[in-house]
Amino acid sequence: MSILISPSILNSDIGNLAGELDKISGADWAHVDVMDNHFVPNLTWGLPVIEAAKKYSSIPIDAHLMIEDPDRWAPAYIEAGAASATFHAEAVKAPIRLAREIRGMGGRAGLALSPATQIDNYIDILDEFDMVLCMTVEPGFGGQPFLSSVMPKVERLRELIDKKGLETWIQVDGGVSADTIAQAAEAGANNFVAGSAVYKAEDATQAVTDLRELARK
Ligand code: DX5
Ligand code: ZN
Repeated sequence: MSILISPSILNSDIGNLAGELDKISGADWAHVDVMDNHFVPNLTWGLPVIEAAKKYSSIPIDAHLMIEDPDRWAPAYIEAGAASATFHAEAVKAPIRLAREIRGMGGRAGLALSPATQIDNYIDILDEFDMVLCMTVEPGFGGQPFLSSVMPKVERLRELIDKKGLETWIQVDGGVSADTIAQAAEAGANNFVAGSAVYKAEDATQAVTDLRELARK
C-alpha cells in the first residue's frame, strides 16, 4: 500500500495559509484539524478555512473533524472542497449512514478512533470506510508525545484489512516525527499525519521528504 504523508496545518502560520500550503506541495494530502471546543478542549476553524485552502492550493484536503454532531456537519466539509472527511467514533451517531453520505458525494470517508477506543465494534463494517485514523495522542492539541501503546491496535487493524482484502488506509495522527514514524509504518500504517515535525522544522519541504523516506524503510 502506498505511503502517504499528510502534514497538519494546525501549527502552521495560518496568516500565510497559501504560503504554508505551498511548502508542503510535495506531500500527498493537507490535513486540516477542525476542533469545536466541545468534542475537544480546543477551538480552531471550520468551513471557510477549507474553502480557502481549496482555493489557494491544489493539494487534496483531509478534514479531521474533532467535533460533536459530525452526522450533521461532515457532508458540508466535502461540499466545501475537502476530498476526505474523518469523523470520530466517539461522536458519531450513525457511522454507516454518514460514511455512505460522504461517499455518495464523492468524498472519502474516514473513521477516527481516539487512543482508548477499540476497533471491535467496527470490524464487521470496515468496508464502509476508506480510512481508519488511529489517534496516537489524545485529540485536541499538536506537539504531544506519540503513544506507542496504540501500535497493537494498528497491527490488528492491518491484519484485519489485509485478511478482508480491503483497500482501507490506516492513518496515524499525533506525535508522528522522524523518531516515531518507522514504528507506525512497521505496525502497518500507510498514511502519516505530522504537524510539528513538518511546520516546526527549519525546512518544511525537506521534512516531508525525510518523513517519506523513513516510513518506507
Ligand atoms: C491533534 C491533531 C493533529 C495535530 C498533530 O489533535 O489531530 O493532527 O495537528 O500535531 P503533531 O504532529 O504536532 O502531534
Ligand atoms: Zn488531526
